[in-house]
Amino acid sequence: MPLFRMPVTAAHEGGPRLADGRRRARFHTLTVSDVRRLTDDAIEVTFAVPAELADEYAYLPGQYVALRVQLDGTEVRRSYSLCRPPAPVRDGATSLSVAVKRDEGGLFSTWAQTELTAGFEIDVMSPQGTFTSGLDQLEGTHVVGIAAGSGITPMMALARTLLTASDTTRFTLLYTNRSTSDVMFLEDLADLKDRYPTRLVLHHVLSREQRTAPVLSGRIDEQKLRTILDSLILPSTVDEWFLCGPFALVDMCREVLADLGVPNEHVRFELFTTGDAPAERGPRRVEVRAGEKAYRIEINLDGVSSTVESPVDAHESVLNAALRVRPDAPFACSGGVCGTCRARVLEGSVTMTENYALEPDELERGYVLTCQSHPTSDRLVVDYDV
Ligand code: FES
Repeated sequence: MPLFRMPVTAAHEGGPRLADGRRRARFHTLTVSDVRRLTDDAIEVTFAVPAELADEYAYLPGQYVALRVQLDGTEVRRSYSLCRPPAPVRDGATSLSVAVKRDEGGLFSTWAQTELTAGFEIDVMSPQGTFTSGLDQLEGTHVVGIAAGSGITPMMALARTLLTASDTTRFTLLYTNRSTSDVMFLEDLADLKDRYPTRLVLHHVLSREQRTAPVLSGRIDEQKLRTILDSLILPSTVDEWFLCGPFALVDMCREVLADLGVPNEHVRFELFTTGDAPAERGPRRVEVRAGEKAYRIEINLDGVSSTVESPVDAHESVLNAALRVRPDAPFACSGGVCGTCRARVLEGSVTMTENYALEPDELERGYVLTCQSHPTSDRLVVDYDV
């Protein structure tokens, strides 16, 4: 989970806000202004943000947006990191870009590769995420990003921002892919290297291609990572770590870094999927029969209270039940990763299946991920507004 909270700054005050300053996640329909091919399997999609929404879509590098489309009659939501530093605002309007890589069997990513063109309209959630805050404290430091595949996306925004913001910040990127043809942003990275030859260090690791240095060839497993951290990137020279990629890789990197004595608070990580990828399945249909034993769930959202019954035998999540009466209940990944569905339990209790998004202090204050929470009390009151 991201380890730092996003500071609320004057530049990011657009849109409705929650009690702790986070921005309420909201969808608006945006028009695709450009689609750029990055690799055979990946595209960069740019959305035009009109002047009246520019404040709401102001973001910090490292944040993400959720996209929502209807495909074959099914609502599909997918989260994608913003891949560029915030674009300048011209005549009030601006833009934002994400990179979409084809996932094996992925409904949205497959559709986007073949069908998505400039002019399409897509629902885009206002930017969210905490893989970003405290960047201003990184001036003059050595920052390392470890990314795999599409995990490069937030790194592009972070590296460009950090290298541009200070003449003394150094960024080292360890980026792993199967082969050169899979490397997203290959030319952009080379351009960035040309621009910052001494402050940006790039290490491409290719699992199915032989590189001159054996340590940069083959899959990054624990042994290879330890070798890299013993030779190419010495943890003692690093101030801050950013990890983004599949759960297994990020988890392994965190364990190795911890074992090497890197304090947890200097390791930030971002996951959009835990490998189970339930996001494309959307909410589960649950029938509520008269007289059936059910939990009674009260939902406070945008100042309006709604109540729904959730059959005990259905074992459904609080979010799943909430969506029957509040289709506007916020969610993106459905997998306990993004934190978009966060709410606070005001009455009653739940058990949570997975949590890769909430920090210990949030759990102590009663926050839960509603997509992962199951009621354990007859009556439950959750509040999305606090
Ligand atoms: S929707 Fe992402 S954590 Fe619940």
